[in-house]
Amino acid sequence: MKTQQRLIVAPSVLSADFSQITEDLHTIKRSGASWVHLDVMDGQFVPGITFGDKFVSDIRNKSDLIFDTHLMVNDPERQIEAFAQAGSDYITFHIETAVHAHRIVQQIRQTGKKVGISIVPATPVVLIQELLSEVDLVLVMTVNPGYGGQRLIDSCVNKAAELHALRQEHPDHTYLISVDGGVNASTIGTVKAAGIDVAVAGSAFFGAEDPAAFVQFLQDA
Ligand code: DX5
Ligand code: ZN
Repeated sequence: MKTQQRLIVAPSVLSADFSQITEDLHTIKRSGASWVHLDVMDGQFVPGITFGDKFVSDIRNKSDLIFDTHLMVNDPERQIEAFAQAGSDYITFHIETAVHAHRIVQQIRQTGKKVGISIVPATPVVLIQELLSEVDLVLVMTVNPGYGGQRLIDSCVNKAAELHALRQEHPDHTYLISVDGGVNASTIGTVKAAGIDVAVAGSAFFGAEDPAAFVQFLQDA
């Protein structure tokens, strides 16, 4: 069993202004958040396209935050090495993109990076059951991936709670539980009650008047 003392807040750069990314990374750092969530979109798994490994490599030189790379891409095995080299700390791929998911888990592990697995709202926890003792992070999507600023789908929160219960039952389950999508001041209470360790927040973080107060609010909620 692994319990997180304090909620980790991972602001998502999807809602940042890429033309001033260095400043926005400083805003994240100054807010007290320790992670930054990097949403990689390929225009196939999800409609939009964001950035590739070069962007991650470039900002690696500008930030000592934990880089939480969320690959919303088909064929993630083709990109893992590049995102590892670029300086990701966690590399998370979607079970929906993988037939041989266990092999991809091993591939990430071999790079020395932390391994994350993610499920979209339509995917049940049982689909990743065989991998739960192998991963460092489970990213529960609480919106359909692809866009910031969507409304949290309440039923997805149950999956975070299910993962929390499984972790209590199994000593070899040491993953952090992260939720991604629609996390804001109104929804944080519900998601925290599920027993999460990490909260990803894009639009709510960058839309906050005082990002530090927002992070504090999430942690104290
Ligand atoms: C959505 C991305 C999220 C996104 C969350 O596909 O995976 O990380 O940035 O944005 P908000 O917090 O605005 O829902
Ligand atoms: Zn994400």
